[in-house]
Amino acid sequence: MHIGTPLSPTATRVMLLGAGELGKEVVIALQRLGVEVTAVDRYENAPGHQVAHRAHVIAMNDPTALRALIEAEQPHFIVPEIEAIATEELLKIEAEGSATVIPTARAAHLTMNREGIRRLAAETLGLPTSPYAFADSLAELETAAATIGYPVIVKPVMSSSGKGQSRVDSAAGIAAAWEVACTGGRVDKGRVIVEGVIDFDYEITLLTVRALNAWDEIETRFCAPVGHIQVKGDYVESWQPHPMSDAALTRAQEIAARVTGNLGGRGLFGVELFVKGDQVWFSEVSPRPHDTGMVTMATQRQNEFELHARAILGLPVDTSLREPGASAVIYGGIDSRRVAYAGVAEALAEPGVDVRLFGKPESFTRRRMGVALATAATLEEARAHARTAAATVLPFAPIPE
Ligand SMILES: Nc1ncnc2c1ncn2[C@@H]1O[C@H](COP(=O)(O)OP(=O)(O)OP(=O)(O)O)[C@@H](O)[C@H]1O
Ligand SMILES: [Mg+2]
Repeated sequence: MHIGTPLSPTATRVMLLGAGELGKEVVIALQRLGVEVTAVDRYENAPGHQVAHRAHVIAMNDPTALRALIEAEQPHFIVPEIEAIATEELLKIEAEGSATVIPTARAAHLTMNREGIRRLAAETLGLPTSPYAFADSLAELETAAATIGYPVIVKPVMSSSGKGQSRVDSAAGIAAAWEVACTGGRVDKGRVIVEGVIDFDYEITLLTVRALNAWDEIETRFCAPVGHIQVKGDYVESWQPHPMSDAALTRAQEIAARVTGNLGGRGLFGVELFVKGDQVWFSEVSPRPHDTGMVTMATQRQNEFELHARAILGLPVDTSLREPGASAVIYGGIDSRRVAYAGVAEALAEPGVDVRLFGKPESFTRRRMGVALATAATLEEARAHARTAAATVLPFAPIPE
């Protein structure tokens, strides 16, 4: 593996499909290694656009537009950052051999739909998951939910960040959940997964890296477990390392190795797991950096974005933890096309605290606009500092001059 010079005929070219806050950090990591980066998103001035060599705005779920851009840019590596991509086209492009899709086109394809990855994990690999069924109508959903037994969680098969998802405690609530799923899903209106609720003690993201070792063989490495809290399917706080029993950690790593091993390729994955005592269930996996893994920007020698960049390029990785830390999300709190941030200096005055503002051009009340990071001697302290810092940064709409 060699790396060329950006903007010259020797360049190593990477195309990010999705240029949000996670993509932005991957772009920065690649830029630091002298890679030529193109960032693609569906709107102008997305966070990753602002740090790439070139920025494009296209509908990434449109196969024709996607292929045309890839043919024009001729990237060596295509790196999906989001799920809503024309993955069928990526399968073709990978088969044609013109570019490497990270980690693999099949991984991107299987994980964009909950059905693909759930059937792979539970039915092909035999891994423990919540009980589940799929339904295409309210009548099918009612039957499936009754069979699984309440409470259940209903999710559109194609959605992320908790969109269209609801927890239902009895048959009385199932029609409302069907409505929410039909309107909140991404593409395929009207197909849902219904899952039994796992009564877990805690949930973790196990960041798992498939990267080349010194003998040019792919090796699987694990980061220390990331604990997190989700509100309405969206992460609000994460921390690392989450304390786990040896048995649970070993089991978690086995499950992560099985899933990522089947998906194949090189790159970093976020394996979402539920844990109760020594028992571990697979929930889902992102074949890319994970939002809860933003904490690694404070805690690890190489953060999850740097690990992804290195794995993509065939470079060695180091997953070691430097110190305990936490992250807390900074939400928009307002709906506005003009956004400024107060309180940044106050937030940063606390030693060990860091803030990332993503630079998103428009704020929504529940949009993630930034993240506060903190390291400290203990997890409790780090979490408290991250939460305080996040609450101190206040997005507001400045009066026009
Ligand atoms: N079967 C389940 N049992 C218990 N809790 C669940 C179950 N399914 C989902 N949850 C809770 O809801 C959260 C979001 O679920 P899931 O990860 O499936 O949704 P998502 O829309 O893909 O979210 P994201 O994109 O943020 O990962 C989980 O992290 C967990 O806290
Ligand atoms: Mg999830």
